[in-house]
Amino acid sequence: MKTIIEPFKIKAVEPLRLTSRDERRALIAEAGYNLFNLRAEDVLIDLLTDSGTAAMSQEQWAAVMRGDEAYAGSRSFYEFESKIREITNLKHVIPTHQGRAAERILFSVALRPGQVVPSNNHFDTTRANIEFQRAEAIDLVIPEGKVPALEHPFKGNLDVARLEKLIAERGAKNIPLCMLTVTNNTGGGQPVSLENIRAVSQVCRKHGIPFFLDACRFAENAYFIKLREPGQAERTPLEIARDMFRHADGCTMSAKKDGLANIGGFIALNDDAWARDMRNLLILTEGFPTYGGLAGRDLAAIARGLEEVLDEDYLRYRLACVRYLGDHLTRLGVPIVRPPGGHAVFVDARAMLSHIPPGELPGQALSCALYVEGGIRSVEIGTVMFGRRDPESGREIVADMDLVRLAIPRRVYTQSHVDYVIEVFEELVRRKDDIRGLAFEYQPPFLRHFTARFRPIAA
Ligand code: F0G
Repeated sequence: MKTIIEPFKIKAVEPLRLTSRDERRALIAEAGYNLFNLRAEDVLIDLLTDSGTAAMSQEQWAAVMRGDEAYAGSRSFYEFESKIREITNLKHVIPTHQGRAAERILFSVALRPGQVVPSNNHFDTTRANIEFQRAEAIDLVIPEGKVPALEHPFKGNLDVARLEKLIAERGAKNIPLCMLTVTNNTGGGQPVSLENIRAVSQVCRKHGIPFFLDACRFAENAYFIKLREPGQAERTPLEIARDMFRHADGCTMSAKKDGLANIGGFIALNDDAWARDMRNLLILTEGFPTYGGLAGRDLAAIARGLEEVLDEDYLRYRLACVRYLGDHLTRLGVPIVRPPGGHAVFVDARAMLSHIPPGELPGQALSCALYVEGGIRSVEIGTVMFGRRDPESGREIVADMDLVRLAIPRRVYTQSHVDYVIEVFEELVRRKDDIRGLAFEYQPPFLRHFTARFRPIAA
């Protein structure tokens, strides 16, 4: 059978509101050409993020009804803990309300000012939480991971030689932990191989550096390993995931991704002293250690989600869906980060709209054009997000790349929704030369992409 179908049928439906192109033109102008300012109701296909946007299953909704809301010692917590232990084999499981809360608590306990934390690529909240402790976040992804058009099976791998060099230069005592983001979101949702996880862990062990996974998309990463790494094809995703975690001393996780839940996260780790300090911090801001800022029903939904996310039929469909979108865009001549990642397709807007100079924000311009043309919401990952204004000249210091991410929510859209997205791109490719650049009209001092406003640059 050629077509990989959605391995589910739909029991509850949420209507989509169709809008006209004229309506969308007015709405995006009103939003200051910033898609974060749109009402979700005015969006037809929302590819802003795969985080917290999954559709839960009938078993998860049933688990919600069974959630135990006891303040301390909730049954749902023990289900959550036991599922996480089954996958990670890590001793302490500490629930948090989402991934960045896990990061804040981990780094508050582990970091001192001036220390460094290497990773393949730190996600922005991870980097921000490290910098908030006045420590340094260092990205060591392999060189292949930085070339959008280059095909490579594990573009998320960390450059082990550069890690050794960093340890030699800065000293192991200044590196309180090393991380690996699986899959590597900032680098295009690209996987990390088991071999690389093992190699990084060996270097860390040799120098006594704790090794943590940012495990948001661990199941997608495990399935890429099954598909692409020699000798892994016969193993189940759970076996591979357990092998990934076997090399780690701990992890942070946003359950809003591969937890198949709408909220939640956790830290899991082996170190008793760190775990004790983290639970003390948790009580201060998140809640008692058996709920950590979540309702019992959330813990129950995550426990079930972590089971379903490792289902092979689900993972086969999940990766096929992203690849389908990516390969079709490639066929249309749309330049994307190759190969497509696990949760999203990243379009190289700077290459696609080569008539728009990077200072005129081609990524933002493409995002707005996608909305006006087809009601699709994407997110710019480029100069708007990572560039900055030179305080002296007032000019834009542009980012390395201007990408537009099309993130696919889990189990939400059907193949015809994806076909529709492809058709919208077909139309945009035809008239891409009409798309104009944008200029900032307002920008806040930090995290400017969330609240900035823009104006179109006249022809
Ligand atoms: N780490 C990675 C790799 C992530 O992708 C995210 C979130 C986080 C940590 C933080 O988790 O949102 O639960 O606090 N990524 C979302 C995204 C927001 O759209 O890529 P959180």
